Amino acid sequence: MPKDFIPTLQKCALQIQELIKTTQASYLETTNTSGDTQLGIDVQADNIIENALLGLECVRGICSEEKPEAIFKDSGSYLVAYDPLDGSSIIDSNLSVGSIFGIYQKEFQAKYLVGSAYIIYGPRLEMVLASTASDSLEYFIHGKNGWEEKTPPTLKAQGKINAPGGTQKYWKPEHKNLIESLFMAGYRLRYSGGMVPDLHQILIKGGGLFSYPGTTESPNGKLRKLFEVFPFALIYEKAGGEAIDGKTRLLELPIDNLHESTPCFFGSKTEIEQVRKTYANQNL
Ligand code: AHG
Ligand code: MN
Ligand code: MN
Repeated sequence: MPKDFIPTLQKCALQIQELIKTTQASYLETTNTSGDTQLGIDVQADNIIENALLGLECVRGICSEEKPEAIFKDSGSYLVAYDPLDGSSIIDSNLSVGSIFGIYQKEFQAKYLVGSAYIIYGPRLEMVLASTASDSLEYFIHGKNGWEEKTPPTLKAQGKINAPGGTQKYWKPEHKNLIESLFMAGYRLRYSGGMVPDLHQILIKGGGLFSYPGTTESPNGKLRKLFEVFPFALIYEKAGGEAIDGKTRLLELPIDNLHESTPCFFGSKTEIEQVRKTYANQNL
């Protein structure tokens, strides 16, 4: 991960935290490419990140969940895909939300992902980063004296949390069985409806499973490959866990368009093995 990114993302984190604290979460008339109605705050967070990233010499292009197309410059070597505000539908409930970043070289494809990061805006402001060049994560918490680096979290072989996304009414029978079997094995439900806090909780508590499957209503799930899925896949792998679409490693999936989504499962190795067994003979 090029060093310029860390201070730039930290600066964006402080600006967006301020925005969240001081702005009403009201809806605009516009929708993004995924069809979600945008909040004013989604667009403002997007502008903060766009300006910061395009101001970096090393950045050649950006694409955002809130923009239909990528924006390119003439120079620079990195491409950044980001979700400026993840969980914008739970802002009004005053739950934690986040921003997610994937840093690519050459093209917006998982095989060119070189680093990723997320910021979590909660009672505390925190940031977690992963790089293909390093085996451990980087973890920062904002405190009285600014950003402090902390011991990065890791995932144990097995955890206790079950965070099942998607509308249960539309789950396929095999998925229902998987989720039920985890609860019967003693897993506890932890799901806020924000990918960043839900995945952060599993990471900080040392393990478990987050799932957002394909359903009869949404065969490709909801979470978007470039802005949400690939960045977290790298973070979970570097923490010692795994991230798959049910069968295939998420970081081996291609993209055909910038806003494409995929079924996804993130977790400790034991839980992911159970997902693999569940989906081995099933369509995703
Ligand atoms: P966004 O706010 O960027 O559109 O993303 C919301 C996502 C993600 O944060 C979360 O995991 C998922 O939506 C929750 O979906 P459900 O409400 O269907 O559980
Ligand atoms: Mn999101
Ligand atoms: Mn978003």
